Amino acid sequence: MTPTLKFDNLAKTYREHGAGKRALNGISFAVGAGEIVGFLGPNGAGKTTAMHVLMDILFPTSGHAEIMGLDSRDPESRQNVGFLPEIFAFDGFLTGTRFLKLFGSLSGRNQDLIAAHIPELLTFLDMPDAANVRIKNYSKGMTQKIGLAQALIGDPQILILDEPTSGMDPIAKARIKQLFIKLRSEGKTVFLSTHILSDVEDIADRVAIINQGELLAYDRVSSLLAANERGFKIVFAGGGADLLGALVGCAISNDSQGRTEVTCPDGKSRDFTLQTILQHGGDIVSLKALGGSLQSQFLRLMHQEGLSDD
Ligand SMILES: Nc1ncnc2c1ncn2[C@@H]1O[C@H](COP(=O)(O)OP(=O)(O)OP(=O)(O)O)[C@@H](O)[C@H]1O
Ligand SMILES: [Mg+2]
Repeated sequence: MTPTLKFDNLAKTYREHGAGKRALNGISFAVGAGEIVGFLGPNGAGKTTAMHVLMDILFPTSGHAEIMGLDSRDPESRQNVGFLPEIFAFDGFLTGTRFLKLFGSLSGRNQDLIAAHIPELLTFLDMPDAANVRIKNYSKGMTQKIGLAQALIGDPQILILDEPTSGMDPIAKARIKQLFIKLRSEGKTVFLSTHILSDVEDIADRVAIINQGELLAYDRVSSLLAANERGFKIVFAGGGADLLGALVGCAISNDSQGRTEVTCPDGKSRDFTLQTILQHGGDIVSLKALGGSLQSQFLRLMHQEGLSDD
């Protein structure tokens, strides 16, 4: 099946005052239809550069990118794409409604559907009163929201979003996570760069991780997390001395609040420990897979394991 998005040995060197800056060093991966894919990497890794090649804002130095099987140099490839650039700046003379009408009409979508969608989108983004306010008078978060609304207004099948929730409040961030899940359930593809790894861990099917223009990992989130698991930490309260005696084969310590922490090396000892705690009347406070978060996997790939908190 034709992938929705494809990077094929994509390389980009920026030329500045005769010097060359290699921003992408031959990255290859493909994104399937109906998936949420997180594009991760530290500042300067090359994420925006790769997205700009997809949007034909930049020419690749070698290799190429495709959208729905068409080379990204072909404007037809972007027929069904909504794009949110990283830095969303434009002449803010238009009101929110006028602005979204303009972008909606560029998408070719039916005008009545666009007109009905605008108040719905603004309400969803918690800024219904901004409809008749000029964008130049929006706050930072509101400007980001109208940028995202612009990407959504044409109801595209493919969304390419460069740090979509940057500067947004926690309510908006949570709503937008739900929105991405809904878009996926409609068969749409969401390709987003972000630094919020916990959100990606919650909702993405796959992640691509790049650093210094090199693709370090491209995998299902579940596989990436399982590969790095180092056992489990269970925190419980109560249960008495009998319980501690019954927990054989596990490392036990007390946490700062006087609760007991048990570290289990594998799933079998985790299940045994949980059962034993419950049988002895203990209260389970939390269960955490050690080393299994996307954050810790990301830090490991960047050789920064010491910064991990699990
Ligand atoms: N127009 C440009 N001219 C020269 N170098 C550039 C240009 N744009 C980006 N770069 C360089 O290319 C590299 C990749 O930048 P890019 O913006 O793609 O990173 P990014 O992964 O999007 O980072 P961030 O997370 O900070 O947004 C960086 O070293 C950057 O300095
Ligand atoms: Mg960027």
